[in-house]
Amino acid sequence: MIKMQDLKKDFTVRVKAGRFRRLKRTVAAVDGVSLTIERGEMVGYIGPNGAGKSTTLKMLTGVLTPSSGEVSVCGLTPVPQRTRLALRIGVVFGQRSQLWWDLPLRESFELLRHVYRVPAAGHATRLRRCRDLLDLDEFLDTPVRQLSLGQRMRGELTAALLHGPEVLFLDEPTIGLDVVSKQAVRSFLAELGRTGDVTLVLTTHDLADIERLCERLVVIDHGRVVHDGSIEALHARYGSRRSLVADLDRPLPDGFTLDGTTLTSVTANGHRVTFTLDSVTAGVAVAGLVAAVAVRDLSVVEPDIEDVVARLYTER
Ligand SMILES: Nc1ncnc2c1ncn2[C@@H]1O[C@H](COP(=O)(O)OP(=O)(O)OP(=O)(O)O)[C@@H](O)[C@H]1O
Ligand SMILES: [Mg+2]
Repeated sequence: MIKMQDLKKDFTVRVKAGRFRRLKRTVAAVDGVSLTIERGEMVGYIGPNGAGKSTTLKMLTGVLTPSSGEVSVCGLTPVPQRTRLALRIGVVFGQRSQLWWDLPLRESFELLRHVYRVPAAGHATRLRRCRDLLDLDEFLDTPVRQLSLGQRMRGELTAALLHGPEVLFLDEPTIGLDVVSKQAVRSFLAELGRTGDVTLVLTTHDLADIERLCERLVVIDHGRVVHDGSIEALHARYGSRRSLVADLDRPLPDGFTLDGTTLTSVTANGHRVTFTLDSVTAGVAVAGLVAAVAVRDLSVVEPDIEDVVARLYTER
C-alpha cells in the first residue's frame, strides 16, 4: 500500500553567522527512509520533536516533493498524481484544519461530498457511522470556528473518511484532547482498524495511542529509522522487565533480597516496595516474598512503554 525507498528531504535554511552574514545550511529532515506498509496495517510513526515525522507524511500525501528516493502510495506517486491520490487517502494534520471555518460541520461534510464527487449513499452511511461513533450530533450545526479542539478533531476525522479512503494519514490526531476525547478517537480508530480495509499511519507523542492501536511501531530520529517492529520487540531490545509491587505491613528487614529480582524502589515509609523481575516468574517471586514477610497487597506491572521510548530517544 505504501512504499518508500531511500526517501530523503533536505531543507535549506539560512542561519545567522555574525552580525550581517547569513550562511546557508542544509537540514536533512528525512534522511533515507525505506519502509513498506501492507494493506490493513496500523503503523505508529514516532520520534522526538524535529525527527522528520511530519515531513515524511507530507511527502506521502503529496504536499512536499522528496529531494531524492522513491515513494508510492496506493500505487501512485504522490506529487505528480496528487489529485488521483486525494481520492484514495484521508489526511488529518492535527495542527491544521481541512474544514471551512465559517460553516457548520454538517455543511463542510456536504461540500466535501461534492469536492470528492462521492456517491450520496456511501457518503451517508459513513457519515452516519462517524456521527454515532464520534458523538458528533450535538455540534453538527455549530460553525467550525466555535468548536472546541476535541470537537473539531472529531470533525476532522470524519471529514478525512467520508470519501472512503484506503489509507489514512494522521499527524498527531490526539494532540491537546482531554482523556475522554482521546479515548473516543482511539476507540473510533480501533474500530476502523478492526475491519482491516483501512491502512493507517499515525504520528503521536502520546504512546498510549500506539499501545492501543498499532502492532507495528516505527521510530525515527534525525530522519532515520531507528526501530521497526512491535512494541514487544522494543521491550525485548532494551531488556524491559515486569515488576512486582507489594504493600507491606512493615518495612523489609535490612539487607532483604528476593532471588531473581532487584529491589528498585521503596517508599519513604517503607510500606511499598518494587522488585524488578529479572530472572523469575511473577509466581515464584510472589511465593518467595509472602513466605518471608507479611504482604497486604500485590500487583505485577508491565514494563512502561514511555520508559523504553525515552531510553531510545536519549541514547541517540
Ligand atoms: N519548511 C521547512 N523549512 C525548513 N526546515 C524545516 C521545514 N519543515 C521542517 N523543517 C525541519 O525539518 C526537521 C523535521 O521536521 P518535522 O516537522 O518533520 O519534525 P516532526 O518529527 O514532525 O517533529 P514534531 O514532533 O515536533 O512535530 C526539523 O529540523 C525542522 O526544523
Ligand atoms: Mg510534526
